[in-house]
Amino acid sequence: MSIQVLQPRFRIEECLEAVRECLEAGWTGIGFKTVAFEKAWCDYAGLPQAHFLGSATFGLHLALEVLKRRLGWQQGDEVIGTPLTFVSSNHAVLHAGLIPVFADVDDSLCLDPEAIEARIGPRTRAVVFVGLGGNTGAWDQVVALCRARGLALILDAAHMAGTRLHGRHVGHDADVAVFSFQAVKNLPTADSGMICFARAADDAHARRLSWMGIDKDTYARTAPDGAYRWRYEVAEAGFKYHGNSIMAAIALVQLRYLEADNQRRREMAAIYRRLLDGARGLRWIDPAPGCLSSTHLVQIRVPARDRILAALAADGIHAGVHYRDNTDYALYADQAGTCPRAQAASAELISLPLHLGLGDDDLARVAARLRHHLG
Ligand SMILES: Cc1ncc(COP(=O)(O)O)c(C=O)c1O
Repeated sequence: MSIQVLQPRFRIEECLEAVRECLEAGWTGIGFKTVAFEKAWCDYAGLPQAHFLGSATFGLHLALEVLKRRLGWQQGDEVIGTPLTFVSSNHAVLHAGLIPVFADVDDSLCLDPEAIEARIGPRTRAVVFVGLGGNTGAWDQVVALCRARGLALILDAAHMAGTRLHGRHVGHDADVAVFSFQAVKNLPTADSGMICFARAADDAHARRLSWMGIDKDTYARTAPDGAYRWRYEVAEAGFKYHGNSIMAAIALVQLRYLEADNQRRREMAAIYRRLLDGARGLRWIDPAPGCLSSTHLVQIRVPARDRILAALAADGIHAGVHYRDNTDYALYADQAGTCPRAQAASAELISLPLHLGLGDDDLARVAARLRHHLG
């Protein structure tokens, strides 16, 4: 049996039952389950606002659009971000008519506060911080820096469902945090995400913008007796970014298991750690002090990474890489060479197989083959 790097586990019967409720109610779109899941997420994460979306990619774009419009940012203003991320973190900046400026990462593979500081210029408006693999990196310093320099702070929390820092769920001290519930994330649906603003007014704006700029969603326009009010107002051109009840129904089920699933992920990380202790040339990416990571990823650095990945694949073990330095892509190549630590990490990183379908024997097999290939 081959071993995949990431794979969702669904509580199938419960999910089907929850989806059936939507189908029987005749309500699969925005409202109904999306409202219930937004409330459940606020309660779970201790955040004041949450708006359910079709994906975190939508959320990152929406976050920038809302802040840009409120704060009067201009086309061509700059947003500092990391080159070591999934491209949607940086595409979102481009989609908002802003310019991504890369700063280098530290040993946590998250943005280094000093590197951010060095990239701040007269047109810098915001920082997009990615909690890579669920790690918080130097988050507290980045918060302090953004406050001191008057920059907005967006947390790309795609990997961070369940991550706590100093005992509190992440997101509360960002201007906006965006979570992903895409199929292989810690809380898998198929595709969906959550945008969580600190300010209620930003949340209200995001709700209008995620539904074409319309001031009331269809659910809100349908009275309990079924009467449907067709008239609404549109003041600006929005997007079709909101989530739907089918995804929210699945999310509500999966949320019940998130804590236990994350606990198992941390246990698997500890097992890998024990089995690979002292392996030649291997370096670990550790959670920052005070961080109880969601452990979306277990990442290591190894020399001759490509050879090791190929050798593992020949054994039927499909490890991954999160991520390739974005300046290696043509779209961002103009910033090549600006982030040497990200570039070096990008050549050495491996994400070990990590999902709830793996038993301890699978982890032992991965560790044994990896040790063998490391020599
Ligand atoms: C760091 C990061 N940001 C954003 C996203 C986008 O998430 P979604 O697939 O929900 O759009 C991902 C998804 O892989 C991600 O890894």
